[in-house]
Amino acid sequence: MDGARILNKALLDKVVAAEEAAALIPAGVTVGMSGFTGAGYPKAVPLALAKRIMDANLRGEKFRISIWTGASTAPELDGALAMVDGIELRLPYQSDPVCRKKINAGEMEYIDIHLSHVGAFVRSGFLGKLDLAVVEVTGILPNGDLIPSSSVGNNKVWLDYADKVILEVNSSQSERLEGMHDIYEGFALPPNRKPIPLVHPSDRIGTPYLRCPQEKILAIVETDSPDRNTPFSLPDDASRRIAGHILEFLADEVKKGRLPHELLPIQSGVGNIANAVLFGLQDGPFDHLTSYTEVLQDGMLELIRSGKMLVASATAFSLSPQKNDELNAQMDRYRSSIILRPQEISNHPELIRRLGCLSMNGMIEADIYGNVNSTHVNGTAIMNGIGGSGDFARNAFISFFMTPSTAKAGNISCIVPMVTHVDHTEHDVHVIVTEQGLADLRGLSPKQRAERIIENCAHPDFRPPLREYFRRALLTSPGKHTPHVLEEAFSWHRNLLRTGSMRT
Ligand code: COA
Repeated sequence: MDGARILNKALLDKVVAAEEAAALIPAGVTVGMSGFTGAGYPKAVPLALAKRIMDANLRGEKFRISIWTGASTAPELDGALAMVDGIELRLPYQSDPVCRKKINAGEMEYIDIHLSHVGAFVRSGFLGKLDLAVVEVTGILPNGDLIPSSSVGNNKVWLDYADKVILEVNSSQSERLEGMHDIYEGFALPPNRKPIPLVHPSDRIGTPYLRCPQEKILAIVETDSPDRNTPFSLPDDASRRIAGHILEFLADEVKKGRLPHELLPIQSGVGNIANAVLFGLQDGPFDHLTSYTEVLQDGMLELIRSGKMLVASATAFSLSPQKNDELNAQMDRYRSSIILRPQEISNHPELIRRLGCLSMNGMIEADIYGNVNSTHVNGTAIMNGIGGSGDFARNAFISFFMTPSTAKAGNISCIVPMVTHVDHTEHDVHVIVTEQGLADLRGLSPKQRAERIIENCAHPDFRPPLREYFRRALLTSPGKHTPHVLEEAFSWHRNLLRTGSMRT
């Protein structure tokens, strides 16, 4: 940390300690921070700011800021600032347990919007003014160009639209990330939008660097800390069974001539189930795979390593420490197969529809008609957020939603009569998968969907009450298109709230 990564002489003069940089952030401002699924977030300034806020709190002063990011960050950012009650409003996706608690207690405002919308909303002025940006980069070139870090997220928008900028130059990020990014410059607002010239996940349509006018840069902080890389855990039995159903389904679609043998670009969420599907593809019959997704996780790196996947386009890494070391050790080998883009491009509906992505995302619950709740437990408490699942689900060639059939040690059915919150409507959900089986909902009417979801996806313990609900709905519902017994649908969840279990 001796300025070695700051090759622009004028910018070298702006290097300060994190505390000095944090002192430049006034209370009440809106700050755009880098960071996406625990990659590329600023490591030092948020912690120093949290300390400053704590000192202000001790003096009896209120000090809060609003924070916009790419997606989730890490305890050093969201956790530290939420802990000192320093966040007034947060957007978009987050998964920090302290933030979650504050949001659900009504102590922090949270705006959960589609990840592809954030940049466009900022450009359009829908979200108001962005006062400051705090962005992690890997290095600064002699001409002032910025080498992006392990995520791109909304960094271009923050650098373009924030009044002032603080940079963190993290020497823990591999220098050889340089050249892996593709920063598209052609964003425009209606009525001047043009088609985005990307027709294959491997296409490069921008430059490898971010840019920022030097007069906007208030301060630069040098850091040397790794990303929050979550250790990898082997997929559990339910995840492996879900993956098995999906792989069987894909093979069948290929056999029917509805998917090419190399499949279509894969979008996959993070976590146990997503990794199980990716590791399943490793042993499966498909070759020359591609991915057009948000995050590049262990399973995807493994597919690239083995030669099964030709290219992965994403906006961020989300790797275990072991895979991160492997990436850094063999960066030159991986670089030609990986592209990191702004999240407005990785999640762009026009591109997802054009490429025909196969989108696979987790959910909290689905109802018998195929509506999906990805975000709320019992209708009112947020878990994480919608993230990019809506960007992909509505526009995918085939949109899968996956969950174990039960939650909380088997006491709660993840298939319910009516979801308590809708993130993805029945119109955007093509396939539902649990460890029990897969329900292909394409071409089915609501009543046909209900039968298939109950019989294929619900846990056997919960099939009888769901069948009984559907039977009574068919008999008594005034409308026979999507039959419901509304008070019973509601009491399904009310009983759960009262007893903690839906088992009788
Ligand atoms: N009722 C009550 N609680 C439920 C539940 C249900 N039907 N289903 C799951 N839960 C609880 C689990 O018990 C667990 O609680 P715990 O943390 O107290 O143990 C928690 O929700 C998470 O469940 P888990 O099974 O560990 O799921 P996951 O890690 O696979 O995440 C989502 C599932 C839906 C929370 C996650 O996929 C998500 O946030 N999705 C929205 C964003 C998205 O899709 N992004 C994709 C693009 S990257």
